[in-house]
Amino acid sequence: MPVIFHEGAKEFHLFNQTLSYVLNVLPNGQLGQLYYGKRIRDRASFSYLMETSCRPISSWPMKELPNFSLEFTRQEYPSFGTTDFRQPAFEINQPNGSHISNFVYVSHSITAGKPDWAHMPHSYVESPEEAQTLEIVLADAVTGVELTLSYTVFEQISAIARSAKFTNKGTDPLRLERAMSLCVDFPDDDFEWMQFSGAWARERAPKVRKLEMGVTAIESMRGHSSSHENPFVILKRPNTTEASGDAYGFHFVYSGNFLAQAEVDTFNVTRFTMGINPRQFSWKLTPGESFQTPEVLMTFSPDGLNGLSQNIHTLLRTRVARGPWRDQPRPVLLNNWEATGMEFTEESILNIARKGAEVGVELFVLDDGWFGHRTEFSGLGDWYVDKSKLPNGVKGLADKVNALGLKFGIWIEPEMVNEDSDLYRAHPEYVLATPQRSMSLGRSQLVLDFSNPEVVDCIYHQLVESFEGANISYIKWDMNRSITECYSRHWPADQQGEVYHRYILGVYSLYEKLLAKYPHLLFESCSSGGCRFDAGMLYYAPQAWCSDDTDAMQRLRIQYGSSYGYPISSWGAHVSECPNQQVGRSTPIETRANVAFFGAFGYEMDLNELTDEEIEVVKRQVQFMKEHRQLIQFGTFYRLMNPYTNDKGAWMVVAPDQSEAIVGLYQQMNQVNTGFLQVHLQGLNPDWDYEIDGKLVRGGDELMSFGLMPQDASAHPLAMLFDPDGSIDLMGDYDSKLYHLKAIHHGS
Ligand code: GLA
Repeated sequence: MPVIFHEGAKEFHLFNQTLSYVLNVLPNGQLGQLYYGKRIRDRASFSYLMETSCRPISSWPMKELPNFSLEFTRQEYPSFGTTDFRQPAFEINQPNGSHISNFVYVSHSITAGKPDWAHMPHSYVESPEEAQTLEIVLADAVTGVELTLSYTVFEQISAIARSAKFTNKGTDPLRLERAMSLCVDFPDDDFEWMQFSGAWARERAPKVRKLEMGVTAIESMRGHSSSHENPFVILKRPNTTEASGDAYGFHFVYSGNFLAQAEVDTFNVTRFTMGINPRQFSWKLTPGESFQTPEVLMTFSPDGLNGLSQNIHTLLRTRVARGPWRDQPRPVLLNNWEATGMEFTEESILNIARKGAEVGVELFVLDDGWFGHRTEFSGLGDWYVDKSKLPNGVKGLADKVNALGLKFGIWIEPEMVNEDSDLYRAHPEYVLATPQRSMSLGRSQLVLDFSNPEVVDCIYHQLVESFEGANISYIKWDMNRSITECYSRHWPADQQGEVYHRYILGVYSLYEKLLAKYPHLLFESCSSGGCRFDAGMLYYAPQAWCSDDTDAMQRLRIQYGSSYGYPISSWGAHVSECPNQQVGRSTPIETRANVAFFGAFGYEMDLNELTDEEIEVVKRQVQFMKEHRQLIQFGTFYRLMNPYTNDKGAWMVVAPDQSEAIVGLYQQMNQVNTGFLQVHLQGLNPDWDYEIDGKLVRGGDELMSFGLMPQDASAHPLAMLFDPDGSIDLMGDYDSKLYHLKAIHHGS
């Protein structure tokens, strides 16, 4: 029973094997919070965890209880203005101009499983036994608004899914000015805040700082979740490491504007809130209407950051991502973008695809440039085939690619339009643009008004027509600029505060329509690489293009950072040409693959330009990935050595039964005469021996406690000259090595 209600104490205890979450009905009828953390035994009451001392200069909302103030009460879904001065979870603007509300407990229900929502991404269960859902109904007597807080506690995954729903049961129209998806009030502030930030081509770098009194926040106001800040935050204890200690994860299952913040107050309470960014958000709630916030997934691990990430990987991979590709090893693909840009013909494309077929690639993806009169400045919005490039249409090319034994995939950027396009000329009102203001361009394009269902329908029908008859297995859905001058001509003035959210709902609706029409499709989401890389997108597209930066050394970091919050199967990782197009660096082709294997693997180049020797290497790489992708994409992943803080980086995956593992070790800038290197492996069975690359035999216990000892040439600058038997593992800058471990004495 993961949800228990103690009638006498009016307390709810939500728990599974790993976590406990306790909340209660406060003396004023509102909801308070008592505990969130490692699983604790149930009690009839935890009310003693609530602070009730009378604090100087606090105000109190109930005359008869001067020692009860919301200022120092940990709360479930707090409001501003009645003795609590901290960041609120919500705000309702009422016809008389007041923002004050008082939501008191009315009722609750506990049901098996988890309810479904049609219009927004969310976590789900496959059978009702997997989870229980608690819904608590509260009401504000003055406005007549009903607030439903929902909590789904997963039994086997250390996670609680939360959201809030406002229903206007009163008679006046109201404005919801803030509606966060959750609030957690931790009783202390001994936390480090971890965020995953960067920019285009250097996404999701972990940044850690100690919380201090005041507000620590990340956000996006770009209309997409952004590469600048990722909607995923970890709060960890200062002594938490990869291998031990408490860590709390928060994922916003949403792809638009967001805010995540922790406010430490004067009494050391840490209030964490996450949800739609309240800036520019204002939702008109007319009588009878409801507003449902997107979901936040709270995850907890007492076993360090690797423990937290592994739990998150399972949650996002199996209970957020959906569809036939969810559990399937991903096809090895070849994409033409870095090879051709938009300049290609059917024949030049087939030439690239043919070489792909020769090396064993399984899916060919035609990138940007196949539609309209596409140039850098034109064509977006016109999803009819450019017959000068593809004389036989998408179907013609798809058939020929299929005839090579390859599946066929295609690129789209459905949310965008160029001014130089037939669509814009016919429908200038289809773009997001503020009347009488200039329209800012990004990548020479404008953003279509996806808050208008007519625009979404128009794009859907164009795409379906172009794809008619073509055997398409995969779509790369791109989104290459942020929203500016956000204004929809489809919505009246008093609903402009809804446009950012309605836009992203429009994006989700197009995904739903396309998935309904082509249920077998593998979607890869993309936004100039990883600028919309979030749990919301994963619901539709089980993988995302991780970053436009395909340099192996940069990718080592980006993938390492991404692994904190996202599963290995959720990002595309490709071997590209050298010198690398983004950073100009040349790295060995082996290293490029050794990094890209840890992802949805592929190539992003014209393989015809490789030497015969390199082609043989590529053939072996493709074969290796086919043999090991089940383990790599679905095994248990451990970060071993952080490339942001070391010259080297390392990670590994272990099979669920511990019988096999693959370790990746990577050299960034080489050094000379360094200390001995030990890579402490994790997740092995300490009682078993493991054969490493069919050569050495070592104990699982040793490999974890002493570590793997690579032969590192950096111990001596000339070591590589004295390596007749090839036993040196790392030879210099950008070198890398994979170790394949197989258990022997299995089960003995
Ligand atoms: C974005 C993507 C690239 C490529 C180009 C095409 O930058 O991230 O992978 O698809 O668009 O224009």
